[in-house]
Amino acid sequence: MTRYNSIKQQLAAAPKTWLVTGVAGFIGSNLLETLLKLDQTVVGLDNFSTGYQHNLDEVQALVAAEQWARFRFTSGDICDLETCHSSVAGVDFVLHQAALGSVPRSIEDPIRTNRNNIDGFLNLLVASRDAEVTSFTYAASSSTYGDHPGLPKVEANIGNLLSPYAVTKYVNELYADVFARSYGFNSIGLRYFNVFGPRQDPNGAYAAVIPKWITAMLAGETVFVYGDGQTSRDFCYVDNAVQANLLAATASSEHKNEIYNVAVGDRTSLLELIELSHSALTSHGAELAPVEPVHQDFRAGDVRHSQADIAKISESLGYVPSYDIRQGIQQTTFWHVQRESCNTH
Ligand SMILES: NC(=O)c1ccc[n+]([C@@H]2O[C@H](COP(=O)([O-])OP(=O)(O)OC[C@H]3O[C@@H](n4cnc5c(N)ncnc54)[C@H](O)[C@@H]3O)[C@@H](O)[C@H]2O)c1
Repeated sequence: MTRYNSIKQQLAAAPKTWLVTGVAGFIGSNLLETLLKLDQTVVGLDNFSTGYQHNLDEVQALVAAEQWARFRFTSGDICDLETCHSSVAGVDFVLHQAALGSVPRSIEDPIRTNRNNIDGFLNLLVASRDAEVTSFTYAASSSTYGDHPGLPKVEANIGNLLSPYAVTKYVNELYADVFARSYGFNSIGLRYFNVFGPRQDPNGAYAAVIPKWITAMLAGETVFVYGDGQTSRDFCYVDNAVQANLLAATASSEHKNEIYNVAVGDRTSLLELIELSHSALTSHGAELAPVEPVHQDFRAGDVRHSQADIAKISESLGYVPSYDIRQGIQQTTFWHVQRESCNTH
């Protein structure tokens, strides 16, 4: 049995209380769904800056009424220390997801990104330390690798950072490390590589490529590609990120105060991604015209290639990705097709 399956069994047998910040967002709402389905008690915190009530409504529809009754939601901001203190009260495990995502947004507005991602992070770290929670797991980012040329990316080797967003995520790691040394408060940082899946926001200037392109294909709109389309990423289906969080939260102390890559350990170019998404949508019955992407300039702050080395998380935490990109794209396109048909009927 994988460590993930055994952890799920243990949690279901002896439920815990979890705080998920950013719970109305993409990854947060997927964590919520899994935890409630395992009969856990979940405290959720979100200020709806990039999250949505409809994500919470969707989770409610996917779980049993008694499971939903174990969810308590606070609409609030991690930039407020009091809110952080009251949210962590009585919590065993913290899964900190709340942050302002997007490299381009941080280049447009570094001050707002800094406030949410560094001040907010520090508030939650202090509150979690004061509450003596059992574990603190937080969303770090592959953007911390910056311009380091090595492939695949190994946790210990980072380059020059390329955006204010990357700075904020790296500062999170530095604070987490200093809290271990100064206060003996151990945590785990999960460096997510491009995570995708159901409930990822397809709208707005800062939308991620996968939901944006799937939505464009379904609407018969142009698919815009930054650069020549050979840019590549280690696209990671959200269930893999959920697995990493549960493994990290329940890790033994020798594996804490560490940073781990969360990805599949593979690399897919943007043009391959378009092909995969198009054929997956067609396999679900969507009637689509062939896609002829329109190329635009490369974007500032984007790295050319990204691929994770997942040996550390696999060996230390027993992580085995449950979905490769093909399987993840099948799930994600299915969700989009279903959502589209709900909206049109
Ligand atoms: N999606 C990815 O590919 C990816 C990659 C690397 C890192 N991450 C990190 O993972 C985490 C989750 O990302 P996501 O993709 O689910 O994004 P998301 O925007 O869907 O979710 C973030 C959630 O945090 C909430 N939030 C933001 N600022 C807040 C604040 N000050 N107080 C309370 N709530 C606040 C938002 O309203 C939103 O619901 C973020 O920390 C992000 O930086 C994501």
